[in-house]
Amino acid sequence: MHTLTVQTPSHQYPIFIGNGLIDQAHELLRPYLGKKAAVITNETVAPLYLAKIQTALDTLGIDHFSIILPDGEAYKNWETLNLIFDGLMQNRAERKTTLIALGGGVIGDMVGFAAATYQRGTPFIQIPTTLLSQVDSSVGGKTAINHPLGKNMIGAFYQPQAVLADLNTLHTLPQRELSAGMAEVIKYGALGDSRFFRWLEENMADLMAQQPEKLAQAVYHCCKMKADIVAQDETEQGIRAWLNLGHTFGHAIEAEMGYGVWLHGEAVAAGCVLAGRLSEILCKTQPEDTERIAKLMTAARLPAEPPKFPFERWLEHMRHDKKVSSGVMRFIGLNRLGEANITEINDMEILRQTLQPYL
Ligand code: NAD
Ligand code: GLY
Repeated sequence: MHTLTVQTPSHQYPIFIGNGLIDQAHELLRPYLGKKAAVITNETVAPLYLAKIQTALDTLGIDHFSIILPDGEAYKNWETLNLIFDGLMQNRAERKTTLIALGGGVIGDMVGFAAATYQRGTPFIQIPTTLLSQVDSSVGGKTAINHPLGKNMIGAFYQPQAVLADLNTLHTLPQRELSAGMAEVIKYGALGDSRFFRWLEENMADLMAQQPEKLAQAVYHCCKMKADIVAQDETEQGIRAWLNLGHTFGHAIEAEMGYGVWLHGEAVAAGCVLAGRLSEILCKTQPEDTERIAKLMTAARLPAEPPKFPFERWLEHMRHDKKVSSGVMRFIGLNRLGEANITEINDMEILRQTLQPYL
């Protein structure tokens, strides 16, 4: 097992990474639990892993109840958030009740937001069960729900008490979801570590086959990169924005296609390639760098190109991006493979040129 620590100005917490950790949840999570807990999951993950968490809580003599939500990005909204609050109220959850998010990034983001707001803040624990949530969404305290006009538009920065990432849970993950998580893994290499990017190029076949040691190495490396970035910039005043490489284009794809039609990771994959193309036009990167990103995304069975839709629709979605500041659009681009930048775009023609093949 690997343990990492996330240190923010206000809070410090561990990330446990390893195989079979859910079976040790009673030992690992004991210090982070109070007298009562709510396990919040969805109808896909519940039959797979809920009983294991319930057993861990029984072993510790903790009073607990469960809330099982519908599954899917399309349910990451106010209505589903309210189902969490209904369950908490009906079961008399208190301010010290620990909310346990058991599932992928959708569950983690929604439960985190519920925890940030229920009774003005209850403790919560992340048990991420997808590759994407293990390498990205469970770490760093971004929580949110979607608005029909924009992705993750309503949320809070709210850190968990602990993160427990059991790599064995990935054995039940559909291949398409594994690929979606791999998009975020590749993103880390592209934005901040060219050696890691090369390692991914050399090892992608083994990673897709879930070779345990290599997968653990990749998850650890991504969590370490994210922990370091979050420690420097918890609330995204600067460098944390790099983690949004590919996301401005990606969020536009998700919103345009309808949430859940393109998986978040699939949209990020095509978005990272577009970020490379944008950087080429701005004369920051070489086309070979973008080609390497596209090739690695393809090796992870991900789309390297976006769907086609009109430029005005791209603009409409991208104008809602959270990086827009004083009306100016800001994109995460690349100086080179392994080094990101934040670029302001005032000239919409640059965007049109980037997207031209997909209009
Ligand atoms: P997801 O939560 O929808 O999970 C994908 C699918 O896999 C779902 O159907 C889920 O029920 C199922 N599943 C989960 N674990 C499983 C398992 N072990 N076995 C079988 N099936 C399993 O999607 P995701 O890719 O995990 O997360 C995407 C979400 O994360 C998006 O909403 C995105 O905005 C968010 N996100 C947030 C952050 C952040 O920093 N907070 C970062 C990146 C992404
Ligand atoms: N996933 C982007 C971030 O956590 O900042």
